[in-house]
Amino acid sequence: MERPRKIQEAKGKLGVLLPGMGAVGATFIAGTLLARRGLGSTFGSLTQEGTIRLGKRTDHRSPKIRDVIPLASLEDLVFGGWDLFPDDLYEVSIKAGVLKREELEPIEEELRAIKPMPAVFFQEYVKNLHSDNIKPERSKRALAEAVKEDIRRFKDENDLDRVVAIWCGSTEAHHEISECHQSLAAFEAALDADEPEISPSQIYAYACVSEGVPYANGAPNMSAELPFMLELAREHRTPISGKDFKTGQTLMKTIIAPGLRARAIGIRGWYSTNILGNRDGEVLDDPSSFRSKEVTKLGVLETILNPHLHPKLYGEMHHRVRIDYYPPRGDEKEGWDNIDIFGWLGYPMQIKINFLCRDSILAAPLVLDLALFMDLAQRAGMSGIQEWLSFYYKSPMTAPGLYPENDLFVQLMKLKNMLRWMIGEELITHLGHEYYD
Ligand SMILES: NC(=O)c1ccc[n+]([C@@H]2O[C@H](COP(=O)([O-])OP(=O)(O)OC[C@H]3O[C@@H](n4cnc5c(N)ncnc54)[C@H](O)[C@@H]3O)[C@@H](O)[C@H]2O)c1
Repeated sequence: MERPRKIQEAKGKLGVLLPGMGAVGATFIAGTLLARRGLGSTFGSLTQEGTIRLGKRTDHRSPKIRDVIPLASLEDLVFGGWDLFPDDLYEVSIKAGVLKREELEPIEEELRAIKPMPAVFFQEYVKNLHSDNIKPERSKRALAEAVKEDIRRFKDENDLDRVVAIWCGSTEAHHEISECHQSLAAFEAALDADEPEISPSQIYAYACVSEGVPYANGAPNMSAELPFMLELAREHRTPISGKDFKTGQTLMKTIIAPGLRARAIGIRGWYSTNILGNRDGEVLDDPSSFRSKEVTKLGVLETILNPHLHPKLYGEMHHRVRIDYYPPRGDEKEGWDNIDIFGWLGYPMQIKINFLCRDSILAAPLVLDLALFMDLAQRAGMSGIQEWLSFYYKSPMTAPGLYPENDLFVQLMKLKNMLRWMIGEELITHLGHEYYD
């Protein structure tokens, strides 16, 4: 990859389009609106709170990322999107119950002005939701054209310089990759033939990238990572990334597992269970949607622990993940992990983690960072898979044939080195302190 000769300035307004404006989308938008009025903090966001060391440790140069990397400012963001329900974003925020009503008061008017556009929706992909705000077009080709038209209108009406899209919609039912996803020509023919294997998220992803809009996938269902999307992204010189925001239990897993592995502590079993009562939990109550989630959640340990390199430590590990829909908890998910480990001479020990988290509070800053970094990538002339954004995902996309990097600390190192490289600073290798293979 060539270093960008010039990163275009982040001037003008940046539109952030969300296919899916539920709890995560609303919490991201409300939080950003509050932060730009100085009424809320952006904790959890690397672009707003993170620092980056530049030069040698003796240089004592660790500026804030946003002070040295040319990111769009929060003031310049304009929000829009699509949803199955027509509620404006104030109503969505109240119903989601993540933020307190009194906290939303100062931004009520701004939130009320944001109304989701009608959605592309096929019931078989999200069985537990019943929509009343869907596009009238009947054919899949016409739906893709309608989404492109929405993007152009959103850009014109808001006088935007650039647009990015982050999928914050429900988890769609698990499907395997089919013939129609293998190439752009096959996908376009399948659009014309109304092929049932084309899901709503794939139509949004196709429409966005066709319009040169960077597309990030926050859910576990397949869209950005399909072979035809790689071709499309190359053709339109547009960045794509995914998939499934890394929050909650999987975030913990990718923090703890690298530590155990670094100390050559064995793991016999890792049992994870959650209760979750928001709409996401309701959607995941359907086994086909849960299957999409299960796949991304189960994948992370393998590439961190490398059982093929350490068969005695990790070769016989049992890994289980459960999610139960439990309405009384709403967005306040509770997760339990039991980790059966063993050490010196094989003596067994246990670790218990009980995480009382808030799902959308953890996910919202990821949406902000992805919007700003995907826009940065495009202005730097980078296109296709943005592997340096693996930090944000449970199941990061990689170039074909490579395994994903799931260790949070390696992911962070990759991300920061990419930022250093983009602005012509020396990369930091931590040479002499490496413990990873
Ligand atoms: N909150 C987290 O920590 C977290 C972590 C990882 C992934 N996710 C994923 O992020 C997504 C959003 O989570 P959430 O808690 O906001 O869920 P949510 O149910 O509150 O919101 C999802 C919204 O998507 C809409 N939707 C579904 N299909 C659509 C379509 N075809 N077009 C337009 N809108 C559509 C629904 O109407 C709903 O309002 C889910 O897929 C979830 O699995 C969330």
